[in-house]
Amino acid sequence: MQVNHHIAQLPAGYLFAEVARRVREYEAREPALPVIRMGIGDVPGPLAPAVARAFADAALGMGTPEGFRGYGPEGGYPFLIDQILRYDYEARDVRLERDEVFISDGAKTDTAALQELFSRDARIAVTDPVYPVYVDTNAMAGRLGSYDDGRWSNLVTLPCTFDNGFVPVLPRERVDVLYLCYPNNPTGTVLSKVQLKQIVDWAREHEVLIIYDAAYKAFIQNPDIPSTIYEVPGAKEVAIECCSYSKTAGFTGVRCAWTVIPRELKGRLPSGVQVALNPLWRRRLGSKVNGVSFPVQQAAAAVYSPEGTAQVQDCIRQYQENARLLLEAIAGTGLMTAGGVHAPYVWLKTPGGMSGWDFFDYLLETASVVGTPGEGFGNSGAGCFRLTAFSTREHTLEASRRIVHALKKL
Ligand code: MLT
Repeated sequence: MQVNHHIAQLPAGYLFAEVARRVREYEAREPALPVIRMGIGDVPGPLAPAVARAFADAALGMGTPEGFRGYGPEGGYPFLIDQILRYDYEARDVRLERDEVFISDGAKTDTAALQELFSRDARIAVTDPVYPVYVDTNAMAGRLGSYDDGRWSNLVTLPCTFDNGFVPVLPRERVDVLYLCYPNNPTGTVLSKVQLKQIVDWAREHEVLIIYDAAYKAFIQNPDIPSTIYEVPGAKEVAIECCSYSKTAGFTGVRCAWTVIPRELKGRLPSGVQVALNPLWRRRLGSKVNGVSFPVQQAAAAVYSPEGTAQVQDCIRQYQENARLLLEAIAGTGLMTAGGVHAPYVWLKTPGGMSGWDFFDYLLETASVVGTPGEGFGNSGAGCFRLTAFSTREHTLEASRRIVHALKKL
């Protein structure tokens, strides 16, 4: 059997696996201080009580004749889709139909899989730094060329740095697909509606598909910042949006998300004829998945109950407060920072021009605090570092104190 050599060509270990490996090695040496994890954006939990109850009730119901469910609709149950339509979209004057929303087990799953809709020679653009999944999955499909000197030969990268205020400059060259994530992972920055409209207008003019990852939208604190790309007129013609309950409602271990593919969104066949992407995705789902389990979708629907909403929002407010504490502590040391307001991530420039990986090792060794090196998110992340606010207040305060102390020692 010949292997997919594109997978073999991927650079070593997935970012968070490499971070975990280094932490494991460090912990095996029995450090004096317990490790505080501010690396991967995983939530400390627990689930909101209303959500856990709905989850448990549905699971117990599966053990009864009335409550049992077999295969569900591959695109998700209407009871959940209707809540999404009402609270995530109609509440923002965006009208969508049931068959435009697809429930899945994660925004990672969907942002990874959507590339199956693209032709083999589609030209891909990503912001840089970037959530690695968009790049890796296109690389595995053989779309990115060869990987030499830390670069893919056939990937267009749009730097988002302190120098350009984290606003991507749109490429002049031809691209077919642009991945965007806002609020941004990893930089925690956002785009205003005006800035997003410029990108949507460009995409409409040049027939570029936008894959818009809005997994962190629950953290937006200002109504002028779009919570869905469909707030921008014309976006339904060019954008697929991926959302998730992972960061919104602590579902990292439960797994539930959704993707919107508007009916008017089209691509072209090799003949040049236009074709709608929505039925293509549904066709693909029919062959590949049997949907998300009934108890999980019941748990997700409970996020929209009055009780669930209040509990989930309370949790988001705690993470926002953690981000504020982190940001305040780091900014107080004089380091350059970004994010941390409309997102659970604080992005910082490392001290003295250290590489992100060197700073990672330094913080781990001197403070027992884990972050994520900017290099792991792309070349424009070099010399930067990401900290997550998905933690308890106690751990956030303790980590902030240790980081400030470690910075003073440099
Ligand atoms: C992150 O830390 O970037 C995220 O937790 C990764 C993910 O959502 O898969």
